[in-house]
Amino acid sequence: MSVRIAIIGGTGVYDPNILTDITEEKVDTPFGSIKVKVGNYQGKRVAFMARHGEDHSVAPHLINYRANIYGLRMLGVKNIFATAAVGSLNPDMKPKDFVFIDQFLDFTKSRAQTFVEQGVIHLDMTDPYCPRLRQVLCDAAQKQGLPYHRTGTYVCMEGPRFETPAEIRMLSQLGGDVVGMTSVPEVVLAREAEICYATIVMVTNFAAGISPDRLSHQEVVDVMDENVHNLRGLVMEAISRVDEQADCSCQHLPQDPSAVK
Ligand code: HPA
Repeated sequence: MSVRIAIIGGTGVYDPNILTDITEEKVDTPFGSIKVKVGNYQGKRVAFMARHGEDHSVAPHLINYRANIYGLRMLGVKNIFATAAVGSLNPDMKPKDFVFIDQFLDFTKSRAQTFVEQGVIHLDMTDPYCPRLRQVLCDAAQKQGLPYHRTGTYVCMEGPRFETPAEIRMLSQLGGDVVGMTSVPEVVLAREAEICYATIVMVTNFAAGISPDRLSHQEVVDVMDENVHNLRGLVMEAISRVDEQADCSCQHLPQDPSAVK
């Protein structure tokens, strides 16, 4: 049975233990090898990948996003739920709230954003995050009684440093709601690979200059740990609700990037 669903676990989410009968798979892609755990949940095959490695050793700007997404595609994955810790620029989006982001602003600087190295494809990014999967997440959060926002604009920074307060003021004026370091190019590559992709963003802190305190990675990890049971419940509810065989426009690019096949 092929694997149709994948979870990409961000900061604080390294544990695939919602799955049973877990095996580790190594997948060799043209962009490098990846390791994923594959298991079962309620009769569905689910792949789990720790974005930063199992020991959080890979910084956001050094993640091999192309190998990760290409490898999931090779496994047959058609639906990705990614998790991400973020800082909030929006007073309504508070620590421990979930945001099912629908837009991004890209401030990354050094990351490969396409699989296509010969020829050009210009991807439509009107709906970068799959509206069908975002609806599944809203329904799941509603069912679980969790605080959530059905839309939000994610600002992707290069990192690995946190932002200055001046950057946060600028990003806020540009319309950003939350800030993180990983959604781009992951979301872009997923679309290029014709995989539906949505992100479960969890706010861990108010961003620099909004929070009265200095930021630390430990604070992000601590808040994530305090809320990881809710995140796990949300992921389990979403997996059980998602129609893994559903056809969706994300899975059909207007052009056919042969390099991704
Ligand atoms: N900035 C960038 N990335 C983050 C933050 C932040 O404040 N919190 C968690 N990830």
